Amino acid sequence: MSEWATIILAGGTSTRMKSKLPKVLHTVCGRSLLKHVSSAVSDIGSSQTIYVESSKLTELHGANENLVKGFEVVVQPEPLGTADAVKKALSSVNRAENLIVGVADTPLLSSSTIKSLKDCHLNSGVVMTVLTAHVEDPSGFGRIVRDDHGELSRIVEESVSCEKVKQIKEVNAGWYCFNTHWLRNHINKITKSLTGEFFLTDLLTEAKNTSKVASVSVKDPIEALGVNDRVQLARVEKEMRNRVLNLTMLSGVTIRDPLTTYIDVDVVIGRDTVLLPGVHIGAGTSIGENCYVGPNSILSGCTLGDSVKIESSFVTDATIGDNNIIGPFSRIRPGTVTESHVSIGNYAEIKNSHIGMGSKIGHFSYIGDAQLGKNVNVGAGAITANFDGFKKNRTEICDDVFIGSNSVIVAPRVIGKGALTGAGSVIVRDVKDGERVAGVPAITLNNPKQEWRSEKD
Ligand code: UD1
Ligand code: MG
Repeated sequence: MSEWATIILAGGTSTRMKSKLPKVLHTVCGRSLLKHVSSAVSDIGSSQTIYVESSKLTELHGANENLVKGFEVVVQPEPLGTADAVKKALSSVNRAENLIVGVADTPLLSSSTIKSLKDCHLNSGVVMTVLTAHVEDPSGFGRIVRDDHGELSRIVEESVSCEKVKQIKEVNAGWYCFNTHWLRNHINKITKSLTGEFFLTDLLTEAKNTSKVASVSVKDPIEALGVNDRVQLARVEKEMRNRVLNLTMLSGVTIRDPLTTYIDVDVVIGRDTVLLPGVHIGAGTSIGENCYVGPNSILSGCTLGDSVKIESSFVTDATIGDNNIIGPFSRIRPGTVTESHVSIGNYAEIKNSHIGMGSKIGHFSYIGDAQLGKNVNVGAGAITANFDGFKKNRTEICDDVFIGSNSVIVAPRVIGKGALTGAGSVIVRDVKDGERVAGVPAITLNNPKQEWRSEKD
């Protein structure tokens, strides 16, 4: 069996994106273009995968980092064209007899299409195989020019093609297979194009002159869509979004209005969960079974258990237990973990806190950097004052505590098991187990002499 290596070209300048961010880092459904393509090539059986990146990209992620685990990186210092990028990568290719070379801006391309390109190359025994597509609108693509016998003749880039060639609707999808030995011997023969770049596509003419070439067409031409500008980015996003929505619905999830529902790739949703209009579910989110995610909720990077109900709320990088009820209009921020049967009501904000089983945080509350035990009741408007102007301080509220409405707990503070704070209390000292406090600052209610009401009398 012949050995294969894969080269992904991601070293371009992204001029048409008009962006400071390298094109391959722009995302489609929450995943970068580079990662989409990397994922498509990850199981096609190459012993080595290399991606070529620009110096700018290296600067962004740092020389010691690699954007795609398991892939090797080669830097193309100047964007001298796709042939130059391949040349740079070739010096790192080890033993592979055959190569798959592809552009990094075709996120819709499936691994089965890449496999069919590979099979065609192996079966035809040629030095170069080109993936082509028959598209309605060929603008932007290199055109496939065939001779009178329908044989591949050359690829002409749009920037240098005449009106007649521009009418051709068979285009170069940007993916190829090469015989490595042949490529090493011929890549240097490419000369600068009129635009000043070295076009990889010029190799087809070279291959025709010295040996044999082959081509295979993508079954679904949409797979060939490349992202060169933001209009194409939106087109590709729309297509990918529909794919994700369809797969999600077919897996047993009800989506009331697919037109207004947004689900990234890398999201898992359990059966019989219902998503209402206006829901956005960001990458890295996992939702259990039988959940109800209500209108206009935005979830990202979070894990939801089963039977969770969320309405019109934001949940980010949090872990939500089974049978929780959240919202409407609450914000659950990073680092929040809730156990089962927790209820977080209207206009509550929870940050970096652990909420014990059965606890209730009903209305207008802020709980930050806190540990709440089981069955805690937080009254309307109560907050943990976690920031002292310099640093964040933690609050511990033990099991069965009742926090009265509008209480302010000035952290760091511990509220002991079964304790109670009266409405409007400002708590500036720890409260013991079972203690009842009230007032500003809060004092113990058990001792009549210290009771706020009795002092007033
Ligand atoms: C390229 C093809 C075109 C094909 C289209 C398919 C060439 C000359 N043209 O055009 O025939 O129809 O893809 O989508 O190959 N890159 C580098 N280094 C460079 C320049 C580009 O690594 O110096 C990378 C880019 O990051 C990108 C890929 O190569 O991922 C393709 O470059 P791009 O500028 O998008 O080429 P297209 O104009 O789309
Ligand atoms: Mg492109």
